[in-house]
Amino acid sequence: MRTEPRIIELPKILDERGNLSFLEEERHIPFPIKRSYWIYDVPGGEVRGGHSYKTNEEFIVALSGSFDVLLDTGLEKKTFTLNRSYYGLYVPPGTWRSMENFSTNSLAFVVASTDYDASDYERDYDSFIQNRKDHG
Ligand code: TYD
Repeated sequence: MRTEPRIIELPKILDERGNLSFLEEERHIPFPIKRSYWIYDVPGGEVRGGHSYKTNEEFIVALSGSFDVLLDTGLEKKTFTLNRSYYGLYVPPGTWRSMENFSTNSLAFVVASTDYDASDYERDYDSFIQNRKDHG
């Protein structure tokens, strides 16, 4: 059975001096963390993503500001608005995804299960849908 996209809550340590959240591979993230990257200084109206990964899994957090993550499993389309630094979105492999509606100064932090590999990307939507039909 395929894993579904889902929101994962992270610990939130409330403190008058400022709040603190964290993530740990085995406790919060359902895959081994191989890489992290972040997206910032996104001009108004820009869209990131627009692809799926064949094997890479991701967990996306809005460390600052807000943005929408649009997911399409081939069966179902869903939009997740991320706007807090104490939860994030798990994106399973084989999920078409794009990110849009970035607020000014927003910061998207992503942890990923694989090293960067251009050949892991599926950038053609029709091939993505065909592949989903072929492999379920
Ligand atoms: P890409 O994943 O296509 O961006 P997005 O999906 O947000 O539109 O990456 C943009 C460029 O950055 C691309 O040339 C590859 C490079 N890149 C890396 O070198 N390493 C990485 O970990 C990532 C995510 C991207």
